[in-house]
Amino acid sequence: MALLDGKTILVTGVLTDHSIAFHVARLAQQEGAQVILTSFGRQLRLTQAIAKRLPAPAPVVELDVTDDAHLAALADAVRVHADHLDGVVHSIGFAPQSVLGGNFLAGQWADVATALQVSAFSLKSLAVAAQPLLSGGGSVVGLTFDASVAWPVYDWMGVAKAAFESTSRYLARDLGPHGIRVNLVAAGPVKTTAAKSIPGFEAVEGGWDERAPLGWDVSDPEPTARAVAALLSDWFPATTGEIVHVDGGVHAMGM
Ligand SMILES: NC(=O)c1ccc[n+]([C@@H]2O[C@H](COP(=O)([O-])OP(=O)(O)OC[C@H]3O[C@@H](n4cnc5c(N)ncnc54)[C@H](O)[C@@H]3O)[C@@H](O)[C@H]2O)c1
Repeated sequence: MALLDGKTILVTGVLTDHSIAFHVARLAQQEGAQVILTSFGRQLRLTQAIAKRLPAPAPVVELDVTDDAHLAALADAVRVHADHLDGVVHSIGFAPQSVLGGNFLAGQWADVATALQVSAFSLKSLAVAAQPLLSGGGSVVGLTFDASVAWPVYDWMGVAKAAFESTSRYLARDLGPHGIRVNLVAAGPVKTTAAKSIPGFEAVEGGWDERAPLGWDVSDPEPTARAVAALLSDWFPATTGEIVHVDGGVHAMGM
């Protein structure tokens, strides 16, 4: 029996075939799941095109996590393809350039607010929008970049990730009684559109491989995607509010 046999998983965040979410969707299908994707705006067509590179067809439902109408319509839009969900993957992040790249002190609230809404509050928005479909319980998994420390150039995205991590714990508290687990994977740096859009992110990527006891390949999203698939599976039945580090071990090293 494959890891995700018989499960139906909603995967947000497939933009290119470098997206972490693309590899989550691919692995989920390979492990027996039915996958439904979400995308929005001008990226919708891109996601539809990229979806053709998955092992099996995957419908794409429109969802901008900042759009209340999309959130309200999500459950019905998914029901066109499946009568319930077993898992939801949050693989979404965005911050305006003005609050990234090493100019933390100049950050303005309007741009910080955008980063927080898209990158942190959206975990609550997505989980609540999907909850009617998770009536039999399930697993919500998100992606973070270890927010317990300050990084070069990550700036207000780092603050948004700290809020995201805290949000996951409060969701774990409130959704646990409904049989819904909420966990995060703290990935090391992976070369994706989001990572490339952070000016100077090479400063964070550089040396990761040397610092990681297990080594680290910034062009390999597979270890991260595997951890997401594992958390979506039935093999973490008593784990919620957790952050699993998939970073080659860097988080545990002093130097
Ligand atoms: N790449 C890394 O180094 C790294 C490391 C740790 C964690 N992460 C996290 O992984 C997740 C996925 O990012 P990625 O690196 O695969 O990059 P990516 O650019 O491929 O994916 C980011 C996704 O966010 C989506 N998005 C942005 N605004 C949205 C909105 N308003 N509504 C819905 N979707 C929206 C985009 O469409 C895109 O698909 C993000 O949360 C990111 O912070 C990335």
